[in-house]
Amino acid sequence: MADHYIMNFNTRDLPRYESDYVILGSGIAGFFSALLAGRLGASVTVLTKQTILDSNTDKAQGGIAAAMDTEDSPELHYQDTLRAGAGLCDRGAVRILVNEGPRRVLQLMDLGARFDVEGGRLALTREGAHSCRRILHACGDATGAEIQRVLNEQALAEKNIEVLERHFAVDLLVRDNVCYGVLAYDYSKGELKVFRSRAVILATGGLGQLYAHSTNPEVATGDGIAMAYRAGAEVMDMEFLQFHPTVLDLPGAPRFLISEAARGEGAILRNGREERFMPRYHELAELAPRDVVVRAILEEMQKDPRGGVYLDLRHLDPELVLHRFPNINRTCLGYGLDITRDMIPVAPAAHYMMGGVKTNYFGETNIERLYACGEVACQGVHGANRLASNSLLDGLVFGGRIVERTAGIWREQMPAWTDFASELPEPGESVDNLAIQEQLQSLMSIYVGPLRDRQGLEKVLEFIDGYAYLENTAAGTPQGAELRNRLLVSRLVAETALMRTESRGGHYRKDYPRPRNSWLKHIILRK
Ligand code: SIN
Repeated sequence: MADHYIMNFNTRDLPRYESDYVILGSGIAGFFSALLAGRLGASVTVLTKQTILDSNTDKAQGGIAAAMDTEDSPELHYQDTLRAGAGLCDRGAVRILVNEGPRRVLQLMDLGARFDVEGGRLALTREGAHSCRRILHACGDATGAEIQRVLNEQALAEKNIEVLERHFAVDLLVRDNVCYGVLAYDYSKGELKVFRSRAVILATGGLGQLYAHSTNPEVATGDGIAMAYRAGAEVMDMEFLQFHPTVLDLPGAPRFLISEAARGEGAILRNGREERFMPRYHELAELAPRDVVVRAILEEMQKDPRGGVYLDLRHLDPELVLHRFPNINRTCLGYGLDITRDMIPVAPAAHYMMGGVKTNYFGETNIERLYACGEVACQGVHGANRLASNSLLDGLVFGGRIVERTAGIWREQMPAWTDFASELPEPGESVDNLAIQEQLQSLMSIYVGPLRDRQGLEKVLEFIDGYAYLENTAAGTPQGAELRNRLLVSRLVAETALMRTESRGGHYRKDYPRPRNSWLKHIILRK
């Protein structure tokens, strides 16, 4: 059974560790499920590719959506989520999200998360396509950092949880459709290790780094999807990727997110002539669905390539701006921009993957003992386009469900172990991982970004095919392994984008610019 591995190994020769759960990823989905499982008495090992601060959770600004206000209801949240999902949400999954969400948020507060309060009540903001104010935030615009702080503190203090940083999960150890554990590379020791478990939970996050510009941290390279697909897991909705409309666009500055909550509080988008343009594109103007805002920005940029597009907060009360967006203010000041006086140059960037490893409502994949939650997973809750601030909630709700589903698994026998091995040839010539990665990022951005067409998608697939030989060779380094993941996941995105001959949600085809009823269905791929 050597066919789905990307590094050579024999588990007989490697250090081996055992725990009830091995959880890959330390964002909200990974750490929340780890905490629930640890507190029930299970032993948990969390492997994280870099550090516990390298996650999309930590970077999340706007907040977490949940119907917590007396003027809101799960029903309204349900309707908004379905509308944003453009006909492809799984209604059962959305019901679970909106009904169980508030309880999970309360649990997070019990763990110590402090959300902003005004007049003794939770302060709520609005973001695109929400019909009311329902987004909880913390420290103004550092919601994710507050959640990550609490989860980090709790997970590190929990005696049943071991957190191993700088451990890159290379492959799932799967035989006869049962997952027995994980093969991981310990960067600090420079060695492969085996983590055997009763259950593996994938919570590795997204894949924004397949693109040249992304809001995601460096670690978001689609590894979880790649290793699950290689091992025989089904993946779904891979063509649906969300681009965030407003990311800082200054030469030399990182693509720092300018939260949609800024538009929720009244910020306006302007073109190079300082004209407000969104009302020409959608009745919800700046709060239209993200894909609409992204396409409008790109159109304005195309009409006036040197003019740029800007987010304007200058008309808002400066006190409110500084109170609500201290983090954005600090970052922009670092680049010489005072957001109460200067417009912020912005551009779209890759942000969130709606598709991923297909699961049911309990995070179960089609591989026994393999579960997935958070951005890496896809049970259809976001459909073709995620409603803003539903992602942190998704991680909590479906991460929690996995632990409830598997409660007691630690009292069962560990599945009987037989060693795993892989002996693939190494590539004959030396491979310049970084050069290939950069070319791929550039092609993905041009042709598999917010605007796609057949010729462009075929061009990307042709490039990827040029490296198909790597699939049957072993990577000698984790960088080589990561490159194989990048190529594989880019291929899954481009292939499904080519198949879907319509436009819907996060997937827009210039050659098929309308939605088609015949495409009210999901694309599911399996190796
Ligand atoms: C933001 O703050 O704009 C990001 C919110 C999200 O992507 O859900």
